[in-house]
Amino acid sequence: MASEKPLVAITCTAPTNIAVIKYWGKRDEKLILPINSSLSVTLHQNQLKTTTTAAISRDFKEDRIWLNGKEEDVGHPRLQSCLREIRRLARKRRSGSDGDSVPLSYKVHIASVNDFPTAAGLASSAAGYACLVYTLAQLYGVESELSEVARQGSGSACRSMLGGFVQWHMGERPDGKDSIAQQVAPESHWPELRVLVLVVSAERKPVASTAGMQTSVETSPLLKFRAESVVPGRMAEMVRCIKERDFEGFGQLTMKDSNQFHATCLDTFPPICYLSDTSRQIIGLVHCFNAHYGKTKVAYTFDAGPNAVIFTLEDTVAEFVAVIKQIFPPEMNGDKFLKGLAVEPAELSEELKSALAVEPSPGGIRYVIATQVGPGPQVLEDPQQQLLGPNGLPKLAS
Ligand code: DP6
Repeated sequence: MASEKPLVAITCTAPTNIAVIKYWGKRDEKLILPINSSLSVTLHQNQLKTTTTAAISRDFKEDRIWLNGKEEDVGHPRLQSCLREIRRLARKRRSGSDGDSVPLSYKVHIASVNDFPTAAGLASSAAGYACLVYTLAQLYGVESELSEVARQGSGSACRSMLGGFVQWHMGERPDGKDSIAQQVAPESHWPELRVLVLVVSAERKPVASTAGMQTSVETSPLLKFRAESVVPGRMAEMVRCIKERDFEGFGQLTMKDSNQFHATCLDTFPPICYLSDTSRQIIGLVHCFNAHYGKTKVAYTFDAGPNAVIFTLEDTVAEFVAVIKQIFPPEMNGDKFLKGLAVEPAELSEELKSALAVEPSPGGIRYVIATQVGPGPQVLEDPQQQLLGPNGLPKLAS
């Protein structure tokens, strides 16, 4: 019987996602129910992921959690919601009981690491909560709708429970049972699509999304208009663009929706400005580049911070990266400028160079992560990759 083993552990990974139709604003703070539906692209875990090990043992005295090697407060309300929900689902599934499953009365130890800098402002809560919920579900043998549980950790986390292109239906029910994520198309659907994460040199820490969206809901008439009158049509249009692999439509709508989200932030009182001078330079550069070619070859989107996420197609990656290097000459800070997928060097034509009417800004971009659309959470079978040792404590504890 599993309960007689000293320690039962499971390790999983989960991806980040980037929204192309943004979620901003809740109608229920506790259950994390949004005021509009949203749609995102799951990014590949070869470049960006969270890894989590969850273990139970009869020797554990209390639930404990370590994030990036540092012990954190397990009493955090959102963490408690996820733990409680998974245990509730496990109990429900076992009523009638089978003797082989792990005992629910045992305490759990959880260790989680991001392979990207949390400070880089890359949706770490989405990957983090998706990974937590997926791993706990594996541990307790829960198979039900898990995006609904991940949503209670962080709204955007529900979309990281699936790979490819994912929509989060806002739902209507007060209990949130219909506020769930659904795959629009799998990761194999649009193989030419590429993603460049441009990590800019941030001068200050932006307002956290949870607090920011609360103020927006309270004060921005534009946000209300957006949620009620703009997003429903955009969701349908975005689904069509993805299904038809229409980059022109996809790129334009992605940029418009990012811009409208940032407009609602400015319409918030007091206003919230997530974009920096570098973000605005990137916006200008993308429009110059597209105007030069007379079509949408690259598109930007920005979340609650100054980093840009660029969508483009495989045949344009090398040239656009060369443009980035031209306008934002890398500073020698010891970091590798280009991370992730390999990108060939490219020569820029004189016509393109003169079309880029943007002043160079050395060091404005710290580094670039080249990635693509990827799958949802995965179980790691190799016990070497477990983050908790046989004593139930993190192997990397500081
Ligand atoms: C701008 O999911 O981080 O990235 O639900 O309060 O945890 P909470 O907020 P969070 O908000 C994400 C906002 C966004 C847009 C998006 O991902 O859709």
